[in-house]
Amino acid sequence: MSKKLRAGIIGVGGIANGKHMPSLARLDNVEMVAFCDIIKERAEKGAQQYGTPDAKVFTDYRDLVALDDLDVVYVLTPNDVHSEMTVAALEAGKHVMCEKPMAINSEQALAMVEAAERTGKKLTIGYQNRFRADSQYLKKLCDAGELGEIYFAKALAVRRRGVPTWGIFLNAKRQGGGPLIDIGTHALDLTLWLTNNYKPVSVMGVTYRKLADTENAANPWGPWDPKEFTTEYSAFGFVQFENGMTVILESSWALNTLQVGEAICVLCGTKAGADMFDGLRINGEKFSKLYTTKPALYGEGVAFYEARHEDAGFAEAKHFIDCIVNDTEPIVKPRQAYVVTQILEAIYESAKTGKPIYFKNGEKCCDVQECCDDDKECCDDDKGCCDA
Ligand SMILES: NC(=O)c1ccc[n+]([C@@H]2O[C@H](COP(=O)([O-])OP(=O)(O)OC[C@H]3O[C@@H](n4cnc5c(N)ncnc54)[C@H](O)[C@@H]3O)[C@@H](O)[C@H]2O)c1
Repeated sequence: MSKKLRAGIIGVGGIANGKHMPSLARLDNVEMVAFCDIIKERAEKGAQQYGTPDAKVFTDYRDLVALDDLDVVYVLTPNDVHSEMTVAALEAGKHVMCEKPMAINSEQALAMVEAAERTGKKLTIGYQNRFRADSQYLKKLCDAGELGEIYFAKALAVRRRGVPTWGIFLNAKRQGGGPLIDIGTHALDLTLWLTNNYKPVSVMGVTYRKLADTENAANPWGPWDPKEFTTEYSAFGFVQFENGMTVILESSWALNTLQVGEAICVLCGTKAGADMFDGLRINGEKFSKLYTTKPALYGEGVAFYEARHEDAGFAEAKHFIDCIVNDTEPIVKPRQAYVVTQILEAIYESAKTGKPIYFKNGEKCCDVQECCDDDKECCDDDKGCCDA
């Protein structure tokens, strides 16, 4: 067998232990040779459990990316350091898997895209929901035109109660936001990928901080301290695209609703629709009657094959390692994740200003639509536009 790829892990916390390290450990063409965490014991524990016998342990990520004999770096730290760590690793000649969200703002995300393009190294983002069986099947339907023209979609990441109270998730500054950037990012990524739609033209958003005063909240990860909860509790977006499609994005860590779903979407096309509320369901009309079908994605009827909890995290890990070995392009591309970042940022900005955010040719433009359409700068919101 050819030489194994050598991987380094930065940030040995929840997602490292829950997804990446166990998934990489199941692959026989990669080995984990370096671990870094500001909490040294976490890096040591990762090295003991998953590392090669001579695995190295660091507390400064720069020492890890500087290793000569390292092929790929996993950036699994809080959101505010994704960009600097990813750029440093790419510049040091390593391929990078960086966790979602790509970065806390579009400027930092663009730096990552440009570093990948400049260095020619592979960069992907941890949107494992694309690798679920329902997502993969729905992608085939969409690409084959089975839904017709998809002109309306909902992207949902809504929890009745599911506030992550560990780590620094409630810290708006370090995470770049709350449920929108944390889980809304998955739902939006999935929706844009399924519909292959990466050209937004306008974005409206609202955020809420309701439920802040809930005492002893029925939260699976324990009650939260409202003083530490500096992000929004819920965020909603209304996004329109160049091809006429509209996406409504709903995200919340705590919403009084029974219509919940994590990283799911509803697609409405001219020929048929699809939703992921109760597994994947396709709906349409045939011979003047409406129908709803549920594709058998898990080998229904054959007990041996009913691996219902197929492991999207493992599929993601295997795919990225295969891309490096075979020099192919990852399914989750940096420029796609950049557009997701731009839209999330625009939702936050619109929520602050109360105004829509307009885009032209892939970049945010003037916030008066007529000026944007005419390629002019906004002089002043009240006075209209100046010449570009
Ligand atoms: N793909 C998914 O579904 C998914 C799920 C959970 C988390 N995530 C993402 O993974 C990232 C980490 O989340 P988590 O839940 O593992 O958080 P966590 O707090 O459990 O783990 C983060 C780890 O990074 C370490 N760390 C912090 N700053 C560091 C630095 N400068 N250098 C080295 N180590 C540092 C912390 O000590 C901690 O051990 C976040 O970006 C989060 O959005 C993705």
